[in-house]
Amino acid sequence: MSTYKAIDSRKVTTRRLLEMKERGEKISMLTAYDYSAAQIIDAAGMDVILVGDSASNVMAGNVTTLPITLDQMIYHGKSVMKAVQRALVVVDLPFGSYQGNSKIALESAIKVMKITHADAIKIEGGSEIRESVERILSAGIPIMGHLGLTPQSINKFGSYAVRAKEQAEADKLLADAHLLEELGCFALVLEKIPAPLATKVASELTIPVIGIGAGGGVDGQVLVMHDMLGITQGFSPRFLRRYADLGSMMTEAVQHYIADVKSQNFPNEEESY
Ligand code: KIV
Repeated sequence: MSTYKAIDSRKVTTRRLLEMKERGEKISMLTAYDYSAAQIIDAAGMDVILVGDSASNVMAGNVTTLPITLDQMIYHGKSVMKAVQRALVVVDLPFGSYQGNSKIALESAIKVMKITHADAIKIEGGSEIRESVERILSAGIPIMGHLGLTPQSINKFGSYAVRAKEQAEADKLLADAHLLEELGCFALVLEKIPAPLATKVASELTIPVIGIGAGGGVDGQVLVMHDMLGITQGFSPRFLRRYADLGSMMTEAVQHYIADVKSQNFPNEEESY
């Protein structure tokens, strides 16, 4: 198994991500929602930590990302920020906190930045959220865009299938990507779209494009921590590579502990005062 040690120990900034794209160094990004996991992920050398609204699924057990609230995202963001020294930390603005009203969007973004001390926020969508993007950026808050499969719109899509396979949707995605760059977003996530389209977006944009289910032709990759560590059960999309089977390891360890308690093998004399 190959391991990684970050060569550059300086804090990752939006500027440094741009430099990474320029010199062809791929950007690593992973989700975290709590202090302990963020500490491990940051010390391992991750470039970007995303406090994703996927917390709604993997932390709170909701079916979609829609129920998570701004205050819950702030709680996760604060916990992560206490642990991180090097990675750039991005916090997702949740569903309902930025769509349709740019004043509310700015208030939400400011609240996240003020309370969590995160480095940036991420929001989903293109031209529909233009005003919110402009208003948040006008306050000096860095934005990571998110196009393709945008889980906050799952009820509109009706499924988690690959997006932008049809020409009209691919054209809109490309136009939205250019728009987000022109408005001033510092990076873009592309989720579950055909690899050739993602490669085209990454080659046309100067800002870093991070993919999830978008092939290898982009500037970096992001995964949900619980999925890649094998904690999530019953979720195995084609794009997901499992780097560990922590679910099985945890089950085994927990059952070992239960057996030791039942058999009075734990605690022994050395573990007692
Ligand atoms: O919330 C999240 O984890 C995300 C990633 C899937 C990119 O937005």
